[in-house]
Amino acid sequence: MTTTPPAVRPARPYFSSGPCAKPPGWTPNQIDTRILGRSHRSGLGKERLKLCIDLMREMLELPDTHRIGIVPGSDTGAFEMAMWTMLDVRRVTCLAWESFGEGWVTDAAKQLRANPTIIRADYGHLPDLGQVDWSNDVLFTWNGTTSGVRVPGGDWIAPDREGLSFADATSAVFAYDLPWDRIDVATFSWQKALGGEGAHGVLILGPRAVERLESYTPDRPLPKIFRLTKGGKLIEGIFTGETINTPSMLAVEDAIWSLQWFQKQGGLKAMIARTEANATALDRIVSQRNWLGHLAQRPEIRSKTSVCLTVDGADAAFIKRFTKLLEAENAAYDIASYRDAPPGLRIWCGATVDTADIEALGPWLDWAWEQCR
Ligand SMILES: Cc1ncc(COP(=O)(O)O)c(C=O)c1O
Repeated sequence: MTTTPPAVRPARPYFSSGPCAKPPGWTPNQIDTRILGRSHRSGLGKERLKLCIDLMREMLELPDTHRIGIVPGSDTGAFEMAMWTMLDVRRVTCLAWESFGEGWVTDAAKQLRANPTIIRADYGHLPDLGQVDWSNDVLFTWNGTTSGVRVPGGDWIAPDREGLSFADATSAVFAYDLPWDRIDVATFSWQKALGGEGAHGVLILGPRAVERLESYTPDRPLPKIFRLTKGGKLIEGIFTGETINTPSMLAVEDAIWSLQWFQKQGGLKAMIARTEANATALDRIVSQRNWLGHLAQRPEIRSKTSVCLTVDGADAAFIKRFTKLLEAENAAYDIASYRDAPPGLRIWCGATVDTADIEALGPWLDWAWEQCR
C-alpha cells in the first residue's frame, strides 16, 4: 500500500463543478470597487453593467440577432424566467438525462402544468434526439452537469422549427462553440466556466423568443421579478444593464474581471482550447487506470467541463472517504459526484482550471485509491 502522498500537489486544487475555480491569478483586491456603496442606476453603475454585458457578448461571440441581459436568481432564475414568460404549455417537450434536466421536467409538469412529452435517458446516456418534435417548445440542458453528458452539437435542432429551443447552457458556455442560430433561449450563471459568483443569471434571447414574448400572454400570474415585457413590448433596458431589481455590483465586478481575463487569453477560442486541453489530460489519466472510467458512454456526448467518472466498485461511502482524504491533503476539493448521480467522481475541466493541475491530480487519485480500497 502506498502511504506516502505524491510529492506534487495541484497548485490550485479547485475542481468543483460549481462554483468553479476562479481564473488563475485572481485575487479579491484586483476587483474594481468604485461602484460599491453607490447606486446601480448611477452613470457609473449603468456603465459597469453595460460593460459586463458587452464583454459577455464579445467572449461568447454572440451575434447581434440575440439579446443578452443580467437577471436575478443565478441560472435557475434565468431559466425559470424563460419558462414562465414564454413556454407555450400546449406544446412542450422536455429532455432529461440527469438531475437538472429532470428539475425542468418537474417544473414544466407540476408547476406550469404543461403535460409535456418527456424524453428521458439514464445517467451516462443521451436520449434519442431524433425523436424531438420541433413543432413543440423544447427544454433541454446543453451540458448535463451531474452526468457529464452533453448534446453533441446543434445539428439535431431543426433550423425551421416552429417551437422554441430553450437551452440551459450553464456548464456549456465558454467551453463549446454554440450554434446561436439554433438557440432561441439560453441561460447561464457566472459561477461556472467564468469562475464568477452565483446570485445572477444571464438570459439570452434570439429573435423568435422576443417575438414570442411580444405576441403571447401566458395565462398565469407572473411575479415582477420575471416580467420581461411592458404593454406587450420587450423591456429593452434589461438587455442594456437596467436590471429589474438591485444586482450585486460586487458579483458584477467579479464577472468583469473574469471576462477581461478571458479577453487577455484570446477570447472564446482560447477558452475552448484550455477546456479541451484539460479534458484531454483527464481522459489520459482515466485511460491509464483500469479502476477509473467515464460515466458518459460515448466520447461524442462526453462533457468537456463537468467530467463524471466511475470508480470500480465504489459506493457512496467509498467516494466520501476517497474525496475527504483528498480534501484533507488539499489535493482536490469537491470532486464527489452530485448527490442524485451514481457514486463516482466529477472533475471540472473548464477554462479557469490549469492543465498542469489536472495532470498533478492523477497520482493523488492513485494515492487515495490505495488508501481506500
Ligand atoms: C445544468 C445546470 N442547470 C442549473 C443549475 C443551477 O444553477 P444555479 O445554482 O446557478 O441556479 C446548475 C448548477 O450546477 C446546472 O449545472
